[in-house]
Amino acid sequence: GYSPASPKPAVECWAVSYPQTVNCTWKPAPEPRLETYFITTYRHGMGAKENECVQPWAGASSCSISDIQMFSITPYVLNVTAVNPLGATMNLFPFIVEQIIRPDPPEDLRVSPIPGESKKLLLEWQPPSSWPFPQYFPLKYLIRYAREGANSNRTVSIGPYEQTSFILTGIRPRAVHHVQVAAKDFTDYGNYSTWSPLVSGTPWTQP
Ligand SMILES: *[C@@H]1O[C@H](CO)[C@@H](O)[C@H](O)[C@H]1NC(C)=O
Ligand SMILES: *[C@@H]1O[C@H](CO)[C@@H](O)[C@H](O)[C@H]1NC(C)=O
Ligand SMILES: *[C@@H]1O[C@H](CO)[C@@H](O)[C@H](O)[C@H]1NC(C)=O
Ligand SMILES: *[C@@H]1O[C@H](CO)[C@@H](O)[C@H](O)[C@H]1NC(C)=O
Repeated sequence: GYSPASPKPAVECWAVSYPQTVNCTWKPAPEPRLETYFITTYRHGMGAKENECVQPWAGASSCSISDIQMFSITPYVLNVTAVNPLGATMNLFPFIVEQIIRPDPPEDLRVSPIPGESKKLLLEWQPPSSWPFPQYFPLKYLIRYAREGANSNRTVSIGPYEQTSFILTGIRPRAVHHVQVAAKDFTDYGNYSTWSPLVSGTPWTQP
């Protein structure tokens, strides 16, 4: 039976590889001395058949759902049941796929000087490699940048198009600038990714 003895796993699902998969994670068993395993299933609609949300290995605290139906207004419901010798705890997580789209952060951000341009910086990056079809599902991007030592930063929104470069203009000559990028599905469904790691650069200075 169900017992409060096994703590509830807090479940989170994101479509990081839309429209291929939904990846779900939950807190691992906080009581490692108790042998705990997770049963992970999902349904798409009331009374629909139960399918397995596939864990990469036994005892993992993540699972993924492939075979996603796009633009379905019927919620999916993930069921993560933690089982240990003291009992079982069930946690249901309903979601609409388009509402949980969240790409991984953009990759390989580079910040470079442009020869002869003392107030500009060239930014280049790659879409997240986990985003399977950037040509059919373009991303839009947010750029966040700040001069070293400044106590606030600026944000520029670009796209949606397949553009993965941008020129920052009107920036202070000779100053080191820190830059980050985040990505979102172009339809504006779901959420922005987290920010990419900080990368720094300085505009062109006369040699
Ligand atoms: C999502 O799940 C797929 C399929 O199991 C896996 O290949 C991929 O690495 C997972 N992505 C993330 C970001 O965890
Ligand atoms: C959730 O999964 C558990 C374990 O498979 C099962 O016993 C329970 O009936 C399921 N609950 C729902 C609401 O599907
Ligand atoms: C922008 O500000 C946030 C919050 O203060 C900070 O965490 C982040 O590192 C800053 N980003 C840049 C590019 O400086
Ligand atoms: C995702 O976006 C929604 C709506 O914009 C917002 O309410 C929610 O806090 C966001 N979630 C995360 C984890 O950023």
